[in-house]
Amino acid sequence: MAPPRLVRSVLYVPGNNRRFLEKAASLDIDVAIIDLEDSVPQSEKQGARAIAREATDLLAAKGIDVFIRINALPTDLAVDDIRATVGSHLRGFVVPKIEGPEDVSRVEEILSPIEANRDSPGFEILPLIESAIAVVRAFEIARASPRIVALVFGAFDFTFDMRTNWSKEGTEYEFARQKLPIDARAAGVYAIDTVYPDLEDEEGLAKDSEVAKRLGYTGKTIIHPKQIAVVNSTFSPTKSELEWARRVIDAYEPALRQGKGAISLDGKLVDMVHYRRAQEILALDDLIAHR
Ligand code: COA
Ligand code: MG
Repeated sequence: MAPPRLVRSVLYVPGNNRRFLEKAASLDIDVAIIDLEDSVPQSEKQGARAIAREATDLLAAKGIDVFIRINALPTDLAVDDIRATVGSHLRGFVVPKIEGPEDVSRVEEILSPIEANRDSPGFEILPLIESAIAVVRAFEIARASPRIVALVFGAFDFTFDMRTNWSKEGTEYEFARQKLPIDARAAGVYAIDTVYPDLEDEEGLAKDSEVAKRLGYTGKTIIHPKQIAVVNSTFSPTKSELEWARRVIDAYEPALRQGKGAISLDGKLVDMVHYRRAQEILALDDLIAHR
């Protein structure tokens, strides 16, 4: 797995919208996904590529990790989406409607000759898991290439594929949403949660993000600046998590030196796994502090 990095707020920005792209550069986001797919109408597809390429440099200069969401592989747009937008400041590509490892290989085939002429590191791939077949094959997809750093869940296309409707309670996509972080973890990559579409419901977004965090997602895709603060804070260690982590470390390290691997703290068991969890919480806090 690549070195730890922050993937909390992952903002979609339509690739044909210069104003939004400029705005995105001023926002406190970890990742931007410049979209060439479903938020860009057919008539704007060509023009959006040049805009997206330019915006990549602007966003990357602000320390934001930039990905381009290309059109799906079966369209005649995907190859040129990649060729027209590769730049040295781009992290990689979000690939929608992926169906299996062979789709990942197809993207690698497109990337390899392009990379032969560059000296920057290879482009990363973020597969969008948004169909029944992709949910079933998510682990194989996540393992298909070392370029993959995260799986991204897409609940709208998934519920569409299932011939059902999206709801806030999420019964329709609950199983898929639970499966994805397990497949991702088993393959050693991050999982990024689906979009919450109700821009007016901040409490709903907070609850939805909390559920995702508990399922093992490290972040969430978002569509509007007003969703950033809630998502960044949910996917950062909370005050009580930090307090717990410091107390565990303070109590456990001396115990270890005295030859004890299990102790009780506030009447609860603390052993190696809690100690390691505490270290990870502090490491994430450190990553946020030094960003
Ligand atoms: N990225 C960057 N900036 C954004 C943004 C985005 N996704 N969405 C809104 N903004 C900015 C606007 O530029 C505006 O800032 P400004 O006034 O300083 O220019 C501010 O946020 C308020 O925008 P608002 O008027 O509330 O947005 P809207 O009503 O025009 O648009 C959406 C609402 C949902 C259409 C829009 O947010 C959007 O297109 N989101 C992304 C959709 C997408 O990419 N979907 C594909 C994946 S699901
Ligand atoms: Mg979609």
